[in-house]
Amino acid sequence: MKKFTFLFSMLFIFTMIVAQDKIVVNADLGTTIINKNIYGHFAEHLGKSIYGGIYVGEGNTKIPNTAGVRNDIIDALRTLKIPNLRWPGGCFADTYHWRDGIGPKSERPSMLNVWWGGVTENNSFGTHDFLNLCKEIGAEPYLAGNVGSGTVQELADWVKYVNFPEGSGPMTQLRAQNGQKEPWNVTYWGVGNEAWGCGGNMKPEYYANIYKQYATFMASTNDKPIFKIASGANSDDLNWTEVLMRDIPKEMVDGLALHHYSVIDWSKKSSATNFSEADYFTTLKRAWKMEELVTKHSTIMDKYDPQKKIALVVDEWGGWYEVEPGTNPSFLYQQNTMRDAMIAGISLNIFNNHATRVRMANLAQTVNVLQAVILTNEEKMLLTPTYHVLEMFNVHQDATLLPTVLKSSDYENGQDKIQAISTSASKDKNGKTHISVVNIDPNKNHDIILEVRGEKITKVTGRILVSAKIQDHNTFESPKKIIPVIFKDFQITNNGIKFTMPPASVLVIEAIQ
Ligand code: AHR
Repeated sequence: MKKFTFLFSMLFIFTMIVAQDKIVVNADLGTTIINKNIYGHFAEHLGKSIYGGIYVGEGNTKIPNTAGVRNDIIDALRTLKIPNLRWPGGCFADTYHWRDGIGPKSERPSMLNVWWGGVTENNSFGTHDFLNLCKEIGAEPYLAGNVGSGTVQELADWVKYVNFPEGSGPMTQLRAQNGQKEPWNVTYWGVGNEAWGCGGNMKPEYYANIYKQYATFMASTNDKPIFKIASGANSDDLNWTEVLMRDIPKEMVDGLALHHYSVIDWSKKSSATNFSEADYFTTLKRAWKMEELVTKHSTIMDKYDPQKKIALVVDEWGGWYEVEPGTNPSFLYQQNTMRDAMIAGISLNIFNNHATRVRMANLAQTVNVLQAVILTNEEKMLLTPTYHVLEMFNVHQDATLLPTVLKSSDYENGQDKIQAISTSASKDKNGKTHISVVNIDPNKNHDIILEVRGEKITKVTGRILVSAKIQDHNTFESPKKIIPVIFKDFQITNNGIKFTMPPASVLVIEAIQ
């Protein structure tokens, strides 16, 4: 009896510290391409995102730069392979008048950035600067137009200024006078931002009408169609999606946006670094909500657009916490821990798995704001855990999604529980299969059996991001505390590939036939 009790307790202890999970990848059933634009970013005129972050100006600075943009940031974003960059907002977009940001910098008017701290915006970073930055980092620009406080004419003129061929009217003449004869041919255009809130506090019926009016005059040249994105729902406002899909004719819209942030409570946010396990759990529960949101909004879109012509564009997502102590509360500067790596891993797996409808997404934001991939402090720069997850996952860009079946145990906290494991898989153009796996459980190792159906795998390699504590983060003193490392502990058996995911870790596996 004593022996039995002992064995039983050992078994109990073992199951407390190790969980068993299974992933089946259907390597022969892929049909959908994961649009690389799912890995897009967002840089707003907010806090130290542009000024004091990306852009240090051409004049009086010791920081090496190209036309005012930091060289270290250019290099880091190139390595990340960011496919598109959304600009100039956010809420700022609906206050932005693009003509203020062109021509000689010394003659550009200043304005107050009313959304973000009332600081002076001198417009020294404008359309040319942004579009040249995109060229430099190899990303497609995604311009967010001003609907809330602009005019139809103003947005129509911006499209012409940016896209029309040389010699086709006053806008292209103005562009040439400012040193750019050739058009940039920008494909992605947002028609306002958060029209339900900072973009004008509109009702969906009203915005749908306004959208049609603006979209009508956003002309494209015959050979280069533009991709128009309607301002989408706030999180679970399903009615917004319903009304827009119902009222905007399909041929007038290419994408419908959705914004969802992983925030515990808008009136009582968590600290970015000094958080409890309960805060961690709730934040990740909010991140997992993306699965439900994408499913529900997609279902509504399917009703009106069964052929999935219109993309769901999650053009703002990420964790939102208290700002770092001592920083301007309107600048939204927050540190970035292993918790953020978990949010990034879960969200990207969700987007990949919904690739038939989700064809673009933008992490908020790129530098020094919210869930940033890069933080700067004067001449210093660091890459956050979120950066590393996006870099590890970029193997999925434009690869074929492979359907997966996942049996995951739960991560429990108090009376509540959420799925512990998240995964997605793809096959790239060279025939390599990649499987990204996230274990959000901060307390348990998870033993995984990975079965790759339809392929005989002979070699497996991987890279893992992991740290001792979920609060761990990179600092300017220790910028490489958390970086991905090679992971080799795989066992290829007749029942599949066996490996163990440590607590709170992100692994990207490469499986070769
Ligand atoms: O990303 C910060 C802000 O969050 C954006 O300006 C706005 O669109 C959203 O509410």
